[in-house]
Amino acid sequence: MQMNNVIAVWGNPNSGKTTISIKLAGELAKRKRNVIVIGCDVGTPVISTILPFKETKDQSFGKLLSAVQVTQESILKKLIPFADNKYLSILSYQHGENERTYAKYSKERVIDLFILLKHLADHIIIDCSSQFTNDIFSNAALELSDRVIRVISPDLKAMSYYDSVLTLMSERKYNVEKHYKILSNVKPEMPKDIIANKFGGIDSELPYAKELELQWLEARLFEDLVDKKSKSYSSEIKHIVDLVIADNKEKPNKVKQEKQSMKGLFKKRGEE
Ligand SMILES: Nc1ncnc2c1ncn2[C@@H]1O[C@H](COP(=O)(O)OP(=O)(O)OP(=O)(O)O)[C@@H](O)[C@H]1O
Ligand SMILES: [Mg+2]
Repeated sequence: MQMNNVIAVWGNPNSGKTTISIKLAGELAKRKRNVIVIGCDVGTPVISTILPFKETKDQSFGKLLSAVQVTQESILKKLIPFADNKYLSILSYQHGENERTYAKYSKERVIDLFILLKHLADHIIIDCSSQFTNDIFSNAALELSDRVIRVISPDLKAMSYYDSVLTLMSERKYNVEKHYKILSNVKPEMPKDIIANKFGGIDSELPYAKELELQWLEARLFEDLVDKKSKSYSSEIKHIVDLVIADNKEKPNKVKQEKQSMKGLFKKRGEE
């Protein structure tokens, strides 16, 4: 089975894209895979919600996108590592930035970045913006990623979103039939069968978990879920990793040289 290296997580607003991206990355890290999570949202920089107290030392994804040139070295400099998890790092806009902070960039820049990123980690997880028509990186990610995970809330607002947006994705390049569809944050009273029917079936269901909601509120998404009631959520995340991203039995990708440089860089900063 081929591992999927670049995964785009996309879906309606507030569906759980960021939460799922972090949980998938956490599961991959447990399997000793190097993972880079990219938070594309320029309107609400993801770093401020998942690591609100992290000092980012000029490490902005926006700066990278609008730089004159990108290299593996310049990407590595922008990665925000996690002191307690050597397998995980993040690329994000910095606290307080917005769409006017940096110069506009082109789709060609995104393609260059994709090529470089593919060799920097075992997996790249792109937490896309729901408004992908306004965000060049998210738009390109939906086209260029090895696999797209579509996150769907089981409610009318999500239906309204998909009714509008899927008509913009009829071009073959988006390959929407191949999306892996997750029904997210499902509570028993929600009309999940009707919604699943509308999408011609769904591939996975992630239940509501109180503990997860608290982790999100307290910016602790990188911690493990330990409550018994969260077990079905965690099992489903493992299942998605096995099925969509990386079969457990497989050996990690051989990208040792780049991994060395990633570790070396972190060490140099004294952050590992
Ligand atoms: N399975 C779940 N159980 C409990 N709460 C959940 C679950 N999934 C998502 N949530 C909650 O839903 C809310 C939105 O989650 P998240 O920020 O991950 O969504 P998003 O799609 O990234 O949102 P945005 O469109 O703003 O980027 C958060 O309050 C989060 O805690
Ligand atoms: Mg988000």
